[in-house]
Amino acid sequence: MRSHTTFRQLEIFEAIARLGSFTRASEELYLTQPTVSMQMKKLSESVGAPLIEQVGKKIHLTPDGQHLAQVTREIFAILDHFTMSVAERRGLKQGKLSLMAITTASYFAPRLLGEFAKLYPGIDVSLRVTNKEQVLASIADKQDDLYFLGAPPVEIDVVAMPIMDNPIVVLAAPDHPLAQQQNIPLERIAQEPWLMREKGSGTRNAIERRFAEKGIALNTRLELGSNEAIKQAILAGLGISALSRHTLTLNQPGQFAVLDVEDFPILRHWYAVYPAGRRLSVVARAFLDYLLGRQETTSPAAGKGKP
Ligand code: PGA
Repeated sequence: MRSHTTFRQLEIFEAIARLGSFTRASEELYLTQPTVSMQMKKLSESVGAPLIEQVGKKIHLTPDGQHLAQVTREIFAILDHFTMSVAERRGLKQGKLSLMAITTASYFAPRLLGEFAKLYPGIDVSLRVTNKEQVLASIADKQDDLYFLGAPPVEIDVVAMPIMDNPIVVLAAPDHPLAQQQNIPLERIAQEPWLMREKGSGTRNAIERRFAEKGIALNTRLELGSNEAIKQAILAGLGISALSRHTLTLNQPGQFAVLDVEDFPILRHWYAVYPAGRRLSVVARAFLDYLLGRQETTSPAAGKGKP
């Protein structure tokens, strides 16, 4: 091929080969038909062989034309790949990542975000921690890139990926008489004063479902609006409760007893969620891939026993 074959000619040729029509190629490239015909004539001359044959309204590629079509497809694929990798590197160097997490996810979300930010120090990260109602409103408005939730919302069309186990375990003060017992029946647990999370809490819903399935009513003594308040009440001897094992992340081993209760832990998951149909940014996609890639190493032990 002589040197004066131009990139534009190859682009036009690729479109004709793909669409099987001069007219459609000229429409796709916003060119007039005479321009397209002229450029194909020049391309054929510079190659030194006919590339396209026209029979009536139909066009066919000659064997040389078919070969050139294959070569141009490969050239464009390589170029696309190059352009994408440049965009990706730039995005990961200076992009933004905004996350929103439901309160209980605050026990692990900052750590994950911190690890990711160390890998990509140029990225501007933000994390808002709030209640379920506000997370759902933000998903509906598509305000943030990704959301951490304990269950995929049913009210909104989303893509939800499980990223980590979320075992709900029964907690008591370390000197509680049940701390030494094994395989404690749910009926026995129901006799203890129970400390319950507020209405709307995913943890609470999961616990209520588990007891309702067995037809057992809990003996709720206090309703408290946060995991930390529940933990304080447990240590104060006000009762027992069940919380995500992640809530113990910053506690000393042995500070709480994880009771060995039948039908516990309740095995739930944490989900990374984004609105269906949303195209994730390069950074958000990289963060999601990072979360999915490290899943195996982040799950807390789902078993019972001392934390
Ligand atoms: P929550 O946690 O109990 O704070 O709502 C989220 C969930 O587990 O669904």
